[in-house]
Amino acid sequence: MDPSQVKIPPMKDLTVDNITENAIRMNSLCEDERTRYVLERLVTHLHDFAKETRLSSNEWMTGLRFLTEVGKICSDVRQEFILLSDVLGLSILVDSIDHPKPSGSTEGTVLGPFHTHEAEEMGQGDLMSHDKNGEPLLVVCTLKDTNGNPIEGVKIDIWETDSSGHYDVQHPDRQGPDGRCIMRSDKDGIFWFNAITPVPYPIPHDGPVGKLLKMLHRHPYRPAHMHFMFEKPGFDHLITALYLRNDPYETSDAVFGVKDSLTVDIGKAGPEYAKKYNVSEDHALLTYDFVLVSDAETRALREKNSKIALDKLGRKVKMVNGLPVPDLD
Ligand code: BEZ
Ligand code: FE
Repeated sequence: MDPSQVKIPPMKDLTVDNITENAIRMNSLCEDERTRYVLERLVTHLHDFAKETRLSSNEWMTGLRFLTEVGKICSDVRQEFILLSDVLGLSILVDSIDHPKPSGSTEGTVLGPFHTHEAEEMGQGDLMSHDKNGEPLLVVCTLKDTNGNPIEGVKIDIWETDSSGHYDVQHPDRQGPDGRCIMRSDKDGIFWFNAITPVPYPIPHDGPVGKLLKMLHRHPYRPAHMHFMFEKPGFDHLITALYLRNDPYETSDAVFGVKDSLTVDIGKAGPEYAKKYNVSEDHALLTYDFVLVSDAETRALREKNSKIALDKLGRKVKMVNGLPVPDLD
């Protein structure tokens, strides 16, 4: 670029006290006001982090080497950066901000790296896990909107590990998808299927994130859970999971995904379910009523929460495409 065309004010004699302001000014020509705002806050917090910890050059090099290792192990089937974001609690924080839930609706949780696009569509009552060593589990669910109306035709992605705590994609010799399926809710908002009782398992910990956990004396385990993802135009895309109560890792999930409202008890089918779903009375049973939030409700709540949060920080903002930017008018 021709230096005479540079529009930003000149910088000289950069110091600890003015480097932040100057770095922000350097980024200020970006036309997109949201990008400008995100970069401004990122630079501010990064600089504050260095100033507050009195970060040494050695420590920063260690951090950069760690991030390099995180990048190196990433591939089409391994996303170590997402794992890092998960174990730092950032994934669940971003999900909670971006997909706020009015009370009474189903909360979201971490997606994790084991969702695939190869699950087969199954009908009501089908068997989604063929693991003979797993404890057979009948799962019966309803799906409603926040007014209590059943929602028909929602695409529901469901996935779980086998009884050894591995997803199908973690078995190099696998024959095809297993422990996962796609279902559609019926006219009464019901979907039901046969699965196995989930077990706890460790997140991938043979890479740099695993080393980090070890250094921090943290275990890599997730409590037993089953994943669900709901999609229907007009509704906020819901990524969630159900967690088994009293799991040994219920209160120390490596990726901070457990929520009270998503914690369930596994019961027995009993006479009524046994008859209706053709299982024995002592067959394990999981029931849950999911509640989806509309796109419009989510957007309104997200904007309201943003305004409250930024007001508390004393920031004057306006909303652009549902996201806050500084209000300079
Ligand atoms: C999972 O539940 O599949 C998962 C979530 C976050 C990181 C690793 C695995
Ligand atoms: Fe999982």
